[in-house]
Amino acid sequence: MSNVPADGGSQRNERPETARVFFALWPSPEVAQQLSAVADAFAQYAGGRVTHQATVHLTLAFIGDVTLERLPDLERAARNVRAEAFDLTLDQFGLWHHNRLFWAGCSVVPPPLFELARALSDALQAAGFDVADTRRNFTPHVTLVRKVKVLGAPLPPGQTLPWRCTKFVLVRSQLSATGASYQTLAEFSLS
Ligand code: 2AM
Repeated sequence: MSNVPADGGSQRNERPETARVFFALWPSPEVAQQLSAVADAFAQYAGGRVTHQATVHLTLAFIGDVTLERLPDLERAARNVRAEAFDLTLDQFGLWHHNRLFWAGCSVVPPPLFELARALSDALQAAGFDVADTRRNFTPHVTLVRKVKVLGAPLPPGQTLPWRCTKFVLVRSQLSATGASYQTLAEFSLS
């Protein structure tokens, strides 16, 4: 005798649809292309999964899964953030062994980047989103290669990539076996 209810059990499984989202700085195609070239060269030697040129970014706040009905609250919170445009100089490459991640970053993080991240997380927290982890661990970096195989691989020679940051974005990430695909949900200007 089957215990499956007449409705097939669908009601019990009904959960509100969620989106996995985060806020980020998105580089110009030129900067993304330069970073991609560094990533390709490094991965040729070290192996791993290279971030696709179109998805290169610097995360400001990772939110994770939220119900679709909360997305307007997220956008409203970010619209209230007042922060200035700034120049970022990517001049450092590193390899974190604990998560096998090759990244680009700045030897000197411009104060307006910290101020933006702080203002955004304040606004998100005030709107009821859990950003405790981002607040504790904000380490500005651009992930270039994941799952690096050769942890002793030499890092690329120094170079300087200027990046003018005039906006940030809210992005939805959809995970699949081949990696993440991203959709920009909203853009926010820096003045
Ligand atoms: P990462 O590149 O260092 O992995 C989308 O997943 C973006 O959010 C990535 O840039 C990722 O950083 C960042 N992120 C921060 N915290 C995360 C978390 N707890 N889970 C997944 N991604 C996180």
